[in-house]
Amino acid sequence: MSFIDEAIAVKEKAIAAIQDIKDKMALQAFFADYLAKKGAISVLMGKMREIPPEEKGRFGQAVNAARKEVEEAYREKEAALAKEELSKKLAEESIDVTLPGRSAGSGRINPFYQIIDEVTDIFLDMGYEVAEGRDVESDLYNFELLNVPKDHPSRDMQDTFYIEGEGDLLLRTQTSAVQAHAMLERNPKTPIRLICPGKAYRRDDDDMTHSHQFGQIECLVVDRNISIANLKATLELFVKKMFGEKREIRMRSSYFPFTEPSVEVDVSCFNCGGKGCSMCKGTGWIEILGAGMVNPKVLEMCGYDPKEWSGYAFGVGVERVAMLRYGIDDIRRFYIDDLRFLDPFVGK
Ligand code: DAH
Repeated sequence: MSFIDEAIAVKEKAIAAIQDIKDKMALQAFFADYLAKKGAISVLMGKMREIPPEEKGRFGQAVNAARKEVEEAYREKEAALAKEELSKKLAEESIDVTLPGRSAGSGRINPFYQIIDEVTDIFLDMGYEVAEGRDVESDLYNFELLNVPKDHPSRDMQDTFYIEGEGDLLLRTQTSAVQAHAMLERNPKTPIRLICPGKAYRRDDDDMTHSHQFGQIECLVVDRNISIANLKATLELFVKKMFGEKREIRMRSSYFPFTEPSVEVDVSCFNCGGKGCSMCKGTGWIEILGAGMVNPKVLEMCGYDPKEWSGYAFGVGVERVAMLRYGIDDIRRFYIDDLRFLDPFVGK
């Protein structure tokens, strides 16, 4: 075989080899075999020394032509592989715009706060203000100014968390503590219409209906000529807005140190309409809150002359209202952060 034939043979072998190449790795190997410094074409060039002088020219041309052709084939293959890779990638990464999107799952308000918001709205509509109480109270505001002196047996009704080493500080056992603040703060004395939603704390053992921490909404009205008729009208309106137009209320006499007279208020059962069912334990009525006319002693201690002023107050449990309203069976569900608990309350 002449040197020239040898050059042509190397070229043909290269052109044939490149046809079978299907990926970048193989193409790299091909480059190493033929076009790199130690590749077959460079090896051909190295043979120049062995070529008789009269053939050097033609041989040189043949090898250059071979190199050019192989380089071209290489570049074409390189471009073809790149194109293939791109279209493969595009096909793999294409998105189906008709698939339903993944929604981000919006947050929801816990039913505890839904009830507070709703009750607050009802009272704001009636011209009440919203007072902000404090969770850490003094014995004075939580008990004494509400007519519960230190040795009074009614303290036993509310097992209390006292704050050790802080004198008479405690976690308030009732939002009623806001009453004394509101009355004492007003100077000169002006009429009061307020509600105060917030938390209260008692040393209860937690069970399905008791929690050491729970929500209350306090209501206090002080003005001239306030009678129990005003209390009843307000409660009726509140209950109808909260539990439905058909609901009625019933007052039973009760005892709270800070009200005189005191009442427990029942609402006609919204489950059975009053006929008697498991929810109302067959009575047709469900107890929802405690209320009464502000005790004249409390008015006096808080600087309101009971000869001139009178008032009413009530306190309602937030979880209790939510449990009745939504049929929640266990108070502990409000606090355990299980998102499934929130689902049924979407949009309520
Ligand atoms: N503070 C009472 C309790 O926690 C509830 C209550 C009863 C509040 C009668 C009042 C009221 O304002 O007048 O049990």
